[in-house]
Amino acid sequence: MSGETPFLRIKGVSKRFGGVQALIDVDWEVRRGEVHCLVGENGCGKSTLIKTVAGVHPPTAGTIEIDGRPVPSLDPAKAKALGIQVIFQDLSLFPNLTVVENVAVESTLGPALRPVQKAGMRRIAGEVLARLDFPLDLDALVADLPVAERQITAIARGLAAKARLIFMDEPTASLTRAEVDRLLAIVARLRGDGIAVVFVSHRLDEVVKVAERLTVMRDGRKVGTWPVAEVDQRRIGHLMTGVDVEHGVVARDMRAAPPLLAVEGLSRRGEFADVSLTLRKGEVLGIVGLLGAGRTELALTLFGMNRAEGGRILLEGRDLALRSNRDAVRAGIAYVSEDRLSLGLVLPQSIGDNLVLAVMRRLKNRLGLMPQARRRALAAEWVERLKVTIPGLDAPVRTLSGGNQQRVVLAKWLATRPRVLILDSPTVGVDIKNKQGIYEVVADLARGGVGVILISDEVAETFATCDRVLHMRAGRIVGEAVPGVVSEHEMEERIYA
Ligand SMILES: Nc1ncnc2c1ncn2[C@@H]1O[C@H](COP(=O)(O)OP(=O)(O)OP(=O)(O)O)[C@@H](O)[C@H]1O
Ligand SMILES: [Mg+2]
Repeated sequence: MSGETPFLRIKGVSKRFGGVQALIDVDWEVRRGEVHCLVGENGCGKSTLIKTVAGVHPPTAGTIEIDGRPVPSLDPAKAKALGIQVIFQDLSLFPNLTVVENVAVESTLGPALRPVQKAGMRRIAGEVLARLDFPLDLDALVADLPVAERQITAIARGLAAKARLIFMDEPTASLTRAEVDRLLAIVARLRGDGIAVVFVSHRLDEVVKVAERLTVMRDGRKVGTWPVAEVDQRRIGHLMTGVDVEHGVVARDMRAAPPLLAVEGLSRRGEFADVSLTLRKGEVLGIVGLLGAGRTELALTLFGMNRAEGGRILLEGRDLALRSNRDAVRAGIAYVSEDRLSLGLVLPQSIGDNLVLAVMRRLKNRLGLMPQARRRALAAEWVERLKVTIPGLDAPVRTLSGGNQQRVVLAKWLATRPRVLILDSPTVGVDIKNKQGIYEVVADLARGGVGVILISDEVAETFATCDRVLHMRAGRIVGEAVPGVVSEHEMEERIYA
């Protein structure tokens, strides 16, 4: 094995963005047909490494070799021609085109098509999807597909363009467990076809399932590369952070605390039915369940984005007639969505502006425009509390690493000083150490009397943070558990049974 020339080899690669040294002297190899995972904390340089190899960012120093031959000036088109395909988190698909058009557009002659080419495209798309053993409606508009199927479309496009190495940057971040398993099966198929896959993931349980080798990065440097079989999750966590992180159960008995938010028989057709729950002052209440269980739909209704069709929402005994999310914000309810890319942030705007956006909305009526100095102080305070690594408050949010963007979203809402905080999968894409940081902030808020609802796909996460955990299935609350009384394992069995 070791005598074979690797598909990709980089030597001494460094990348600097202004004052930020994103990559420092990285040597790295990807072998033909291997599944390789890239892990490390938020902002350590994973996405930058991928973009450098894909020709998006020219390195400040170092060399890149493909098939043992140096490629002196790589650009995205050249990288693709050499067989390097990247599936970015936004997937870069054309939402208004069909599956066929998206899959075959790069391998045919571009978007100005004649009928003959259309038939050819169809054949290419059909063949590629058959290779992936994944039936997709070829004529569906990509805009109408769920995220998981858009991803498959992006992978298919890579295959149609004769990929030899496919990078996937956090491909599983917004997938359900079943979809993750399906994606991992596809990764295994690609390997069978001799195509190398490098993926970035913060979920170490997935990594150890499919990858053969793993590379750990920290602060722009490569810590090392290991066969996955030789390192367990705990060791990986240690290599990434330099510290040991462990979860313990924190549940407190909150039954004596006064009720804060009460929901009675809440329903919305096709989404959820007859949901009743009480969130107490200072309580952290988890909601777990499969995707499609109605958790996000319930949250959106509690946040006034959608109207309930039946039932009541009461805040400290007062009926809340929420007509919009503005009403909810005014009542002191904040909602941090799972989808930072489309709901949470205004990417081209500065970090500081993003942070104060929600506060402005809330306070403008009462205080008029907030003085600039006060705004900056508020933004700076939350950046500090959430340990967001930023170059400066004036930098655009788009230049932050994914996990840091997620924390800006959280900071933005915390700055509104909510009484009820609804967190929907708040740690997707956030690394272990910073997850811990977010949990600490949640605990802090709860101690200060804020009621927190935490929606999560990870039972472990709710057990490490919540006083009580509700189980939602098919739009209804079907069970409740106190972490520690019920074990994580039992809860998982209930959900996935
Ligand atoms: N276009 C850019 N301009 C300026 N700085 C950038 C740019 N892209 C990345 N950076 C900086 O480079 C560093 C590495 O970021 P990168 O996105 O590679 O991290 P990451 O490991 O992918 O993190 P995450 O897990 O949070 O996605 C960060 O400090 C980031 O702010
Ligand atoms: Mg990244």
